[in-house]
Amino acid sequence: MSLFWRIFVLDAAGLIVAAALLLGPVTVSTPILPGEVLVVVAGLAALLAVNALVLRVGLAPLGRLGRAMADADLLHPGARAVVSGPVETAELITTYNAMLDRLEAERAASAAGALSAQERERHRIARELHDEVGQTLTAVLLQLKRVADRAPRDLREELGQAQEATRSGLDEIRRIARRLRPGVLDELGLLSALRSLAGEFTTHGLTVRHDLRTGLPPLTEETELVLYRVAQEALTNTARHAGADRAELRLRPVTDGVELLVRDNGRGLGAAAGEGAGIRGMRERALLIGATLTVSSGADGGGTDIRLRALAPTVRADAVTPLGGRR
Ligand SMILES: Nc1ncnc2c1ncn2[C@@H]1O[C@H](COP(=O)(O)OP(=O)(O)OP(=O)(O)O)[C@@H](O)[C@H]1O
Ligand SMILES: [Mg+2]
Repeated sequence: MSLFWRIFVLDAAGLIVAAALLLGPVTVSTPILPGEVLVVVAGLAALLAVNALVLRVGLAPLGRLGRAMADADLLHPGARAVVSGPVETAELITTYNAMLDRLEAERAASAAGALSAQERERHRIARELHDEVGQTLTAVLLQLKRVADRAPRDLREELGQAQEATRSGLDEIRRIARRLRPGVLDELGLLSALRSLAGEFTTHGLTVRHDLRTGLPPLTEETELVLYRVAQEALTNTARHAGADRAELRLRPVTDGVELLVRDNGRGLGAAAGEGAGIRGMRERALLIGATLTVSSGADGGGTDIRLRALAPTVRADAVTPLGGRR
């Protein structure tokens, strides 16, 4: 029954009963007698109590919908409000759930577009840095060397310094290009890329150990890139925020996929820290490949754990590899 009819029928029934009682057995004299006051007050109280009960029961689903709306987070998709209550409320909840379906699908599509545009752009910048600036600096370096060979002795030291500065500029550009585009991922594969990432983050204050198992199930290129970017952001956070001296980068096969774990022994996330663009970015990338990301305090209460569980594409038992063999 709709909320309108519930309230209308209840109020009408109450008023009809009250009128019937007044026309029948119940009398109200002037001035009113104590016994009559009792009957009128009891009748009114009963009417109000039933009214409150029907409204409470009828409006409860709206309250639940309000809470579901307040808690809705597109980065944690899949949560839906339970459809219940009077017709209008049930319709409202169904419409809200359909709207969430649409928003989640649109968000996933636009996040996928934005992230792939970002990767393409990084790729382009990395290539231009490497091919254009890198080549120019290499040419300058060679030129400086030729000049230095023929230069008078008193200029050689300065030319040597210029060569040194050019060389370190070239190294810096290679490092930036590598960070923008994990070339090792294409060339040597995920494990080498993660190993070199652990090496990059190992500095005097922080030691990053890695435990990268072989025998992983085959992963798509997209999944490998997500694993790499999540490890990169998690280690960046460790270096920037954790104040840790040890971190661990672990990748191992699990049933139906792989699990990446980045763990540090730092100060932990703390209650006040909200999720910034970095952690939201990790969540968005995880959503793209249908992986689950958990950000939590370390197992013994200290430090931070970032865990990503990614599915391996299911391979049919009779699937034939491109080379004609069977997987
Ligand atoms: N390993 C960690 N140890 C301690 N605190 C952390 C760790 N990782 C994240 N945090 C806390 O969580 C917050 C959010 O991290 P997030 O990566 O989302 O944003 P950010 O690093 O501050 O900025 P951005 O990544 O966008 O440059 C951080 O500001 C920090 O306070
Ligand atoms: Mg960050």
